Amino acid sequence: MKSLQYILFFVIFSSVYFFVICQNIPSPRRQQTSTIIGTKLYFFGGTTSLIKPNEVWYLDLSSSFNNATPPWYSDAAMPIGYTLGTSCLSPIDNSTVFLIGGRIWIANTNTYSYASSVYKFDSKIQQWTTPTINNFNSSFEARNEMQAVIDNNGKIFVFGGINHGNDDNITTAGYNDMTILDITTMIWSTQTQPQSVLVNIDYTATLLPNGLIVYIGGRGSKTANLHDMSQVQIFDTKSYTWSTKSASGSIIESRACHSAVLSTYTRYV
Ligand SMILES: *[C@@H]1O[C@H](CO)[C@@H](O)[C@H](O)[C@H]1NC(C)=O
Ligand SMILES: *[C@@H]1O[C@H](CO)[C@@H](O)[C@H](O)[C@H]1NC(C)=O
Ligand SMILES: *[C@@H]1O[C@H](CO)[C@@H](O)[C@H](O)[C@H]1NC(C)=O
Repeated sequence: MKSLQYILFFVIFSSVYFFVICQNIPSPRRQQTSTIIGTKLYFFGGTTSLIKPNEVWYLDLSSSFNNATPPWYSDAAMPIGYTLGTSCLSPIDNSTVFLIGGRIWIANTNTYSYASSVYKFDSKIQQWTTPTINNFNSSFEARNEMQAVIDNNGKIFVFGGINHGNDDNITTAGYNDMTILDITTMIWSTQTQPQSVLVNIDYTATLLPNGLIVYIGGRGSKTANLHDMSQVQIFDTKSYTWSTKSASGSIIESRACHSAVLSTYTRYV
């Protein structure tokens, strides 16, 4: 009896200890992509010091927590390591996430692969799948460093970006094309743009409720070729036309790889 108590005590004590040392905290990283699903703020993959993880983490924002010790939860891992891609939530079911482009990392061989440019995550059943895409444009295969937005009808718009080589060699020319994936039909299309539309990489893309996508900053094909932050490029998802708005006020130094969110929306630009 004594030894049984001892064993029980040991089991309970060691599982508490196990719980304490295995608290869920994602390792430091960058280049992940994030999406809000209901009250959960998810992020996918990223680049840690050594590897491109296939981890999925979220914070549940439905109850308050201490910023110093955010309660992270991990969810079903992606089939692949993932970095420098973009993601958006289906407005049709409010629970499916689409991951578009990015660098797809094969852990066993330590190389990048481009088996698919789109992955789908059903957050309700925690399942990842590779959707079948109609009319996929293979020139998009290695595309990364761009941002997607999705409209209320389920059309994903991805502007520009740049290719990433299998061997880490970055090709020189970025893109100024508009890729559209309609998630209701899974039809892919590429809208080529006039040359006057600048190549853009590592910009921010924000869809306004009136159907305009606002692109801020970013760069051209060369990393030193940063765009003017005061020349805001705007794409109209209804007419498929571009315009430029000059921003007044403070001068913001040119930059790329920043992030933007839309807060209280008061008037149309
Ligand atoms: C998805 O969310 C939007 C915005 O909150 C809402 O209008 C819509 O009814 C939701 N659709 C479903 C299927 O839950
Ligand atoms: C990648 O870039 C390096 C350095 O420029 C070059 O030596 C190598 O041949 C390139 N590899 C491929 C497959 O292009
Ligand atoms: C595929 O994308 C490339 C790059 O934007 C473009 O030049 C080409 O026209 C596209 N092909 C089709 C069939 O849309």
